[in-house]
Amino acid sequence: CGIVGFIGGQDAKEILLKGLEKLEYRGYDSAGIAVQSNSGVVVSKEKGRIAQLREIVDTSIEASIGIGHTRWATHGVPSKVNAHPHQSTSQRFTLVHNGVIENYELLKREYLQDVTFVSETDTEVIVHLLEKHVQEGAHVEEAFRQTLKLLHGSYALAMLDNENPGVIYVAKNKSPLLVGVGDNFNVVASDAMAMLQVTNQFIELMDKEMVLVTENSITIKNLAGSIVERAPFTAELDASDIEKGTYAHFMLKEIDEQPLVVRNIISKYRNEAGEVELSEDIRNAILESDRIYIIAAGTSYHAGLVGKQLIENFAKIPVEVHVASEFSYNMPLLTEKPFFIYISQSGETADSRAVLVQTNEMGYKSLTVTNVPGSTLSREADYTLLLHAGPEIAVASTKAYTAQLAVLAILAADIAKAKGHSVGLDLTKELGIIANTMEVLCGQKEEMEKIAQEYLATTRNCFFIGRGVDFYVGLEGALKLKEISYIQAEGFAGGELKHGTIALIENGTPVIALATQAHVNLGIRGNMKEVVARGANPCTISMKGLEMEGDRFVIPAVHEMLSPLASVIPLQLISYYAALHRECDVDKPRNLAKSVTVE
Ligand code: G6P
Repeated sequence: CGIVGFIGGQDAKEILLKGLEKLEYRGYDSAGIAVQSNSGVVVSKEKGRIAQLREIVDTSIEASIGIGHTRWATHGVPSKVNAHPHQSTSQRFTLVHNGVIENYELLKREYLQDVTFVSETDTEVIVHLLEKHVQEGAHVEEAFRQTLKLLHGSYALAMLDNENPGVIYVAKNKSPLLVGVGDNFNVVASDAMAMLQVTNQFIELMDKEMVLVTENSITIKNLAGSIVERAPFTAELDASDIEKGTYAHFMLKEIDEQPLVVRNIISKYRNEAGEVELSEDIRNAILESDRIYIIAAGTSYHAGLVGKQLIENFAKIPVEVHVASEFSYNMPLLTEKPFFIYISQSGETADSRAVLVQTNEMGYKSLTVTNVPGSTLSREADYTLLLHAGPEIAVASTKAYTAQLAVLAILAADIAKAKGHSVGLDLTKELGIIANTMEVLCGQKEEMEKIAQEYLATTRNCFFIGRGVDFYVGLEGALKLKEISYIQAEGFAGGELKHGTIALIENGTPVIALATQAHVNLGIRGNMKEVVARGANPCTISMKGLEMEGDRFVIPAVHEMLSPLASVIPLQLISYYAALHRECDVDKPRNLAKSVTVE
């Protein structure tokens, strides 16, 4: 979900709608804007896409102040009523909110017994609390502060007060929010991308800060009421990076960008001797630890699994990989000197951030591997490694995954070298080969389209199997397929499918196997025979040198340890074409958000 706000001498409606369009990629199910005209605040909201919202916005309204929102439902179904902005009963206050107010039911019971709520959202308590505080005599700013003090949970807020036009009231806790600086105007955005159309100067906000934004001033205060000074930074984003160009979908564009991203990573991490390496402080911090804990969600978690193999194999440090949402309350016994690696494309995933807050409190060192400089996880960890992949817009992550693998390989090899272990490969050279191989694979789209048509045009489900790292890539392949084509897809360790799930294999059920690892090649072939004997429609994707008769596709040979960087590409493309054939919304799949900023 996303927030935008604009205040200045221009048509706010259009800037807000354009801003929301830039945030569309993050995934949402309803959207709305509120603008402050001479005759008061006018709210327009709608379930569905921004295009539908555009249709209902009254173009004749003249307003130079407004706020907007895209909602990804958490409390309450996606609907017009639950869409933001929300208003207080008298309609004095109008508000948009990202995050979750965890104590909203308690607040309702304690303070708002006699208020009639119109939506099912947690957000609505905020506007009613504001109104309650002003009714009790507080000035709007004081009412805002008193309200914020009552809220438990995460929020990024932008609020308009009908009786004090000319100000956007803003606050932040745990959810990302920026204030953008312009010439005779100012903006609010949960993501700089939304407002690059008008400025690239942004001020970061810290948790529990509130801001009064007017046309010519930005006043940041903490909840105690003291003013905080902070200079803006320049968002290093190129507006053209977030355009599709000639591509039909961002996902396909981003799949094709992968060779470039790997080459970019090589150049960013290369030292004068031409070797890829880490900075000394990160190296030393890792060398001091006795175990690495990788924390991540979704695709980044899958990258973490491959990262574990790389780090354990190269650097010989034990690694545990954990799903962020489980770790915070189901923490394993930690070793004496743990080191935490947070992997997150967006750097904003609330589940991962919750763990980082905990491990920071415990005093443990941490590193964030992210695509977004200045993101929350990057700011709050001790160290950051950037992916240099350029903005990833499609909800289904592709180039960030391979970038994560490349950066983790560099980390693993660097630590190995520092410890005096030989990794048996020249990583700079091997990553170069990977980039070339990726190019070859991206050039085989027709073949991938055929595979998608042949195996996935009408199927209900699909299984991915592999052994070793192929299993981990299979998990990612299955996630890609289900995310965008809605085919029920699951990844299994080759030997595990027969312990239960094989019961689901029927005549024609597609089973996609990866065979890129010499030491388990025969094992995975045996597993394929088991499913074929039960009627499965087998699709084996193997690597040159390990291929056997009947394989559906053979990827060029790359170093075995780095094979996931190459073998994932056919899986990404097959998912893409499967989704296309099924007429799914590839870039904006239902129910998903690009960056989930709620726990
Ligand atoms: C969301 C996205 C996934 C992504 C996951 C983790 O669920 O839909 O594609 O893998 O978040 O995101 P992160 O930004 O932390 O890598």
